[in-house]
Amino acid sequence: MDWNLDVLQERFAGKLFGCNFCYIPETQSTNDEAWKMGVAGTPEGSVVFADSQSRGRGRHQRSWHSPPGVNIYTSVVLRPKIEPDESSRIPIMAGVAVAEVLKTYSRLQVELKWPNDVLLNNKKICGILSQARLSEGKVDFIVLGIGINVNTEQFPDEICESATSLVIETGRKISRQDLLISLYENLEKWYKKLLQTGFEPVKQKWLELTPMIGHTVEVMFHGEKIEGKAQDLDSDGSLILVTEGNKKIKVSAGDATIIKR
Ligand code: BTN
Repeated sequence: MDWNLDVLQERFAGKLFGCNFCYIPETQSTNDEAWKMGVAGTPEGSVVFADSQSRGRGRHQRSWHSPPGVNIYTSVVLRPKIEPDESSRIPIMAGVAVAEVLKTYSRLQVELKWPNDVLLNNKKICGILSQARLSEGKVDFIVLGIGINVNTEQFPDEICESATSLVIETGRKISRQDLLISLYENLEKWYKKLLQTGFEPVKQKWLELTPMIGHTVEVMFHGEKIEGKAQDLDSDGSLILVTEGNKKIKVSAGDATIIKR
């Protein structure tokens, strides 16, 4: 176990992210824990992290592989004063922040896959799940959940081709505690930038980190397979595609995969 809660307390002191933190050895899902904290009125920046999750959740009702003792499973409660249709900017921002941190651990390529998967060496190393609670048409809070495959050496058959971890790619064991600290420091930097200067800097960094723009991608959107050239990221985090018939489409949900590189 590489958590030292006293050190974490010291490192998070005076920060927004981690102002309050809660370590749970085993939970169903850190997003569920953070949601409960959000409902109970916990301050913005409250962090929860766990050593294992029995029902780790991904986007689109998928599960998130969450074995004990090896990875990062964490969620933070945010209370941004933004419009509900701007809430997708938060997970996009988080993808940028995670990718930047992971770049410091490996010389291999770190890339973003729309909307917010982080890939290392072309395989998924991090997933982000954000959930917003609205109240009277406003954002009450957002739970931003992040899972990073750190020291997992083997994945179940279903995902072994598509998933990777830091230990697999770098050949060395990584301290989860150091990574958690860097993660929240960088998230705080990008979150503040997003709130103070708007979406543009996040978008520019996202565009720098994704290989998708200019390539033909495929997305399942409302049960329909859409193919088009990825052109841009919209201000609400949607992916803008141009189809073969030169039609511009804004895709706000789904998973995009490059089909022609
Ligand atoms: C995805 O890629 O589909 C998103 C995966 C998100 C996984 C993280 S792990 C911490 C937090 N708790 C969860 O149940 N899910 C997120």
